[in-house]
Amino acid sequence: MTRRVAIVTGAARGIGRGCALALGEKGFDIALVDVLVPEMERTAAEIRALGREARTYEADVAMFARAQDVVDDVVDEWDRVDFLLNNAGRSMPKGILEITEEEWDRTLDVNLKSCFNWSRAVAPTMLTQGDPVGGRIVNMSSLNAFSGGVTSAVSKFAYAAAKAGILGLTRALAKELGPTIQVNAICPGVIETELGNTLTRARGPELAEGIALGRLGTPRDVAEVVTFLATSVPSFITGQSLVVDGFQWVL
Ligand SMILES: NC(=O)c1ccc[n+]([C@@H]2O[C@H](COP(=O)([O-])OP(=O)(O)OC[C@H]3O[C@@H](n4cnc5c(N)ncnc54)[C@H](O)[C@@H]3O)[C@@H](O)[C@H]2O)c1
Repeated sequence: MTRRVAIVTGAARGIGRGCALALGEKGFDIALVDVLVPEMERTAAEIRALGREARTYEADVAMFARAQDVVDDVVDEWDRVDFLLNNAGRSMPKGILEITEEEWDRTLDVNLKSCFNWSRAVAPTMLTQGDPVGGRIVNMSSLNAFSGGVTSAVSKFAYAAAKAGILGLTRALAKELGPTIQVNAICPGVIETELGNTLTRARGPELAEGIALGRLGTPRDVAEVVTFLATSVPSFITGQSLVVDGFQWVL
């Protein structure tokens, strides 16, 4: 059987870890990318325990050349890349009157330029590797792309701008890379990661009251949609943004 290979950025913890494990359960060998090396090695060990292969790459997703180096190594080792999850991202709580130019640039680089870096690096392989399909890419946006992120009680304008940019990038790349590569985005609502975050710790129960399904999301909720987009056959979905938020109306 042909090996199936996935690259997951931000795979050390949180949503990325959940997605990497779920993809491992679906039979993918996984290349994990993150800056948190010990945590990433733990996720890799969990994937190997599922009987799949895992390789780890310490890399800042904002660095263009590093993405190409990692993808070259993955293709050298495993010969193909079937799925890319551009998941790594970081919030930026500063308002427009406080943020520095460097902080704005960094927020856009980590959240948006990263999707360009890694899509650019995998596209030549996905376009030419042929059967069973070319490849699929999922970009992690956010409900903040639509809402502006008012739940956090601090501004998230730079983060929201980057996450909204991902939606445009997703639609344009779906056109440009189709029909061989399918490109979609996911917009999670509030997701409780294992580390938790200030928002869910401080306002979890209150937020859950504003969610139709009555609870905050989990990495598994997002992973379920990611694995669907990575594996469904046949698939007629590309250029879309799927909201995974339990229908959250307190934005
Ligand atoms: N948790 C939520 O409520 C939520 C909601 C909407 C969208 N998201 C998005 O989902 C993604 C994952 O978020 P999470 O909640 O799991 O966060 P997290 O902080 O728990 O995990 C993010 C992972 O990305 C890695 N990372 C961050 N910057 C990196 C960089 N420059 N290079 C390489 N790795 C880097 C981190 O080390 C970490 O392992 C992010 O893109 C985030 O914006 C999260």
